[in-house]
Order: sequence, then structure tokens, then C-alpha cells
Amino acid sequence: MSKNVVIIGANRGIGLELVKQYKAAGHHVIAMCRKSSKALSESGCEIVENIDVTDDALVENIAASVPVASIDILIHNSGILDPDTINSIDFESMRRHFDVNSLGALRTVLGLQSKLKNGSKIGIVSSRVGSIDDNTGSNNYAYRVSKTAVNMVGKCLSIDLKDAGIAVALLHPGYVRTEMTKHNGHMDVDESARGLIKRMEELSLDTSGIFVHTSGEVLNW
Ligand SMILES: NC(=O)c1ccc[n+]([C@@H]2O[C@H](COP(=O)([O-])OP(=O)(O)OC[C@H]3O[C@@H](n4cnc5c(N)ncnc54)[C@H](OP(=O)(O)O)[C@@H]3O)[C@@H](O)[C@H]2O)c1
Repeated sequence: MSKNVVIIGANRGIGLELVKQYKAAGHHVIAMCRKSSKALSESGCEIVENIDVTDDALVENIAASVPVASIDILIHNSGILDPDTINSIDFESMRRHFDVNSLGALRTVLGLQSKLKNGSKIGIVSSRVGSIDDNTGSNNYAYRVSKTAVNMVGKCLSIDLKDAGIAVALLHPGYVRTEMTKHNGHMDVDESARGLIKRMEELSLDTSGIFVHTSGEVLNW
């Protein structure tokens, strides 16, 4: 059955691939981004531009730009990574990461809440490097802290939205060859997106609040 799927951060990388795969599976895909790309424009999905997840006004106005009455699957994928070390901490960069990577997901979910219904599912693309338990490598303070914070955002949402029948997953896409990783990684976007879509299929109210790898491995916080 065709579902209404909204992907935020859809113009390149993992988000773009999610758009392509959901579209190829016959779903109605609405791709949200700051600015479209050639590849996104050629995907045949509906595109909503000028969605910058740092904009507080999204909470009030993003729902009006979604051309469907209800959303079955919402994936918040937008994210940034500017590397740092203990010797190069930049507090402005830390604030920017928190704004995009942590608050961004909260803004879009709050803004789209009116379009979510019993049975809707939310996937927030986080990262394994936000896991405190898994941190053996240090570095990337801004990115790590922001992803730890978005995990808490997602966990809170999973609790608050449960009575409404809405399930939430925190998704680790794997180490994926995209612009963010300067095309280093363990997998390409097609493998990552395939797994993420499978994880969204499996997600239920019983597993809501899960932090899960694209492979299906459940991750520690
Ligand atoms: N690649 C990996 O190995 C990996 C691993 C763990 C987690 N992740 C997460 O996976 C997600 C996708 O990453 P990717 O690898 O596909 O990276 P990417 O190719 O750099 O894509 C990042 C996406 O986020 C969007 N974005 C950034 N700032 C935004 C803003 N203020 N408002 C709206 N959209 C914004 C970008 O849009 P613009 O073109 O407008 O900048 C782009 O669509 C991110 O959340 C990332 O943290 C990636």
C-alpha cells in the first residue's frame, strides 16, 4: 500500500537515497530541503524547498507546506559534521551542531505533529558516535554531543507520542560514503538506505524509542 513519506534533508547523501528508494517502492514521497539538487529534481517526488531546520518558525509553518493530510513515515535526516578535537573546540560550531542536529529534529517533529496519526512512524537519523557507551575514539565533540542530545530528543518524543500511536526510532545509518565523510566509509548510500527502510518497517509501538543501526543491531546509549 502506498504511504505518504516525508524526508527532511533530502537533496543529497543518505536523504536523497531514501527518497529514491521509497519512490521506487511506489510511495508518495515529499522531499524537504533547503535547496533542491539536480538528482532530487530528477527523482519525480514532490519537493519542498526553503526548509532550514534551524528556523524556529518551522514549528508553526512547516505543516502548511506538506501537501498531504497525514504522514505515514517521517524521516528527519538533516545533519552537519565539522570535525574538532580537544585542541580545536569552537563554541560557535558547538552551538551550530546543537541547532541543526539536535533542535532541528525537535522543530520538524513538533511542526508536523498535526499531520501524524495513529500508526505513523518517525525516524530520526542520529549517529552511533552519539552513544556514550560506544565512545572509545573521542574527537568530534560538537558532532558527538549534538547526536547524544538528539537521542534524548527522540527518546522523549517516543514516550510523549506513544498514546497517540506514533512510534519513534533513532537511526544510525552506518559509516556511509557521502560528502559528510568525504566519501570514506564502510558502505554506499544504497545499502544504508535499504537497511534504514527495513528498520522503519520493523518499528512498532513496542519497540518505540529504539536506537538502532541500519544493520538491525540495537545500540547502547
Ligand atoms: N555518512 C555517515 O557515515 C553518517 C554516519 C552517521 C550518521 N550520519 C547522519 O546521517 C545524516 C545524513 O548524512 P549524510 O552522510 O547523507 O551527509 P550529507 O551528504 O552531508 O547530507 C547532509 C544533509 O543534511 C542537510 N542539512 C544540513 N544542514 C541543514 C539545515 N540547516 N537545514 C536543512 N537541512 C540541512 C544537507 O542539506 P544542504 O545541502 O542544504 O546542506 C544534506 O541534505 C546526518 O544526520 C548525519 O549526521 C551519517
